[in-house]
Amino acid sequence: MTRVLDARDVSYSYPDGTAAIEAFDLTVEAGERVAVVGPNGAGKSTLIQLLGGLIEPDGGTITYFESGAPADDLRDRIAVLPQHPDEYLFNSTVRDDLEYGPAQLSIPKEQARERVASLADRLELTALLDQPPFRLSGGEQRRAALASAVAVDPDLLLLDEPVADVDADHRERVLSLLDRRHEQGETQIVSTPNVDLVPQVADRVVLVDSTGSVVADGPVTEVLADRSLLETCGLEAPTVARVFEMAGVSDPPLTVAEGAARLSDLLE
Ligand SMILES: Nc1ncnc2c1ncn2[C@@H]1O[C@H](COP(=O)(O)OP(=O)(O)OP(=O)(O)O)[C@@H](O)[C@H]1O
Ligand SMILES: [Mg+2]
Repeated sequence: MTRVLDARDVSYSYPDGTAAIEAFDLTVEAGERVAVVGPNGAGKSTLIQLLGGLIEPDGGTITYFESGAPADDLRDRIAVLPQHPDEYLFNSTVRDDLEYGPAQLSIPKEQARERVASLADRLELTALLDQPPFRLSGGEQRRAALASAVAVDPDLLLLDEPVADVDADHRERVLSLLDRRHEQGETQIVSTPNVDLVPQVADRVVLVDSTGSVVADGPVTEVLADRSLLETCGLEAPTVARVFEMAGVSDPPLTVAEGAARLSDLLE
């Protein structure tokens, strides 16, 4: 199995001296879906930018695909959806933003156009393609930035809060796109403070506390079932688990689908 990402002893401080990431290690194998979960200010967005090569670590190393190549030389294989997508939508129309990545990588125009049309259709952006990106709503900008990230068809996709501001219908579209891409072999790293989202986007959780230290790294079902660990990080158990716990169930479900199955058993 290919090691897609190997981050060793990575640290990063902002110019004002804020130490956002210290001695961070993470290894991700091909095809994994990893959620980095932690409270506000833990350093998740900083980490996504570091792992995606948008900012350079002050210390440590990040190796991609077992090669010595830096992220900037691997823009055809690594893509990032940042937390503030408006900063990365800078062309005069949404269409130009979506076609920008493929054009930089010299992907033939016709192929790029087909790809963009298909992504716009899946994420319901078609009617917005001729709009300037700054006119889009927050949720529309996030969907446009996601389409722009995946337009290069990366092997490693890093997503910072991929469904923040996105309504329920479009959230399903985003999640189904991510599922499909994962089934096709894409490795995904998602950052979120939302534990309810985790079972829908990941199989493995890296839980970080408010200082950015890793306090757990394991299967979703194990990490999210450990309530005291979540509380250490200022997080609650998934909503569905809390509902079942309130009703006196000691081994609550972690996902809505599991909860629904348990309820229908009870109601039979
Ligand atoms: N440009 C900046 N200059 C100085 N400090 C910053 C800057 N950006 C972020 N920070 C600080 O770095 C730390 C980590 O911020 P980061 O945005 O990575 O957290 P986060 O885990 O993504 O939080 P959230 O869940 O709110 O998105 C915080 O203490 C934050 O205040
Ligand atoms: Mg963030």
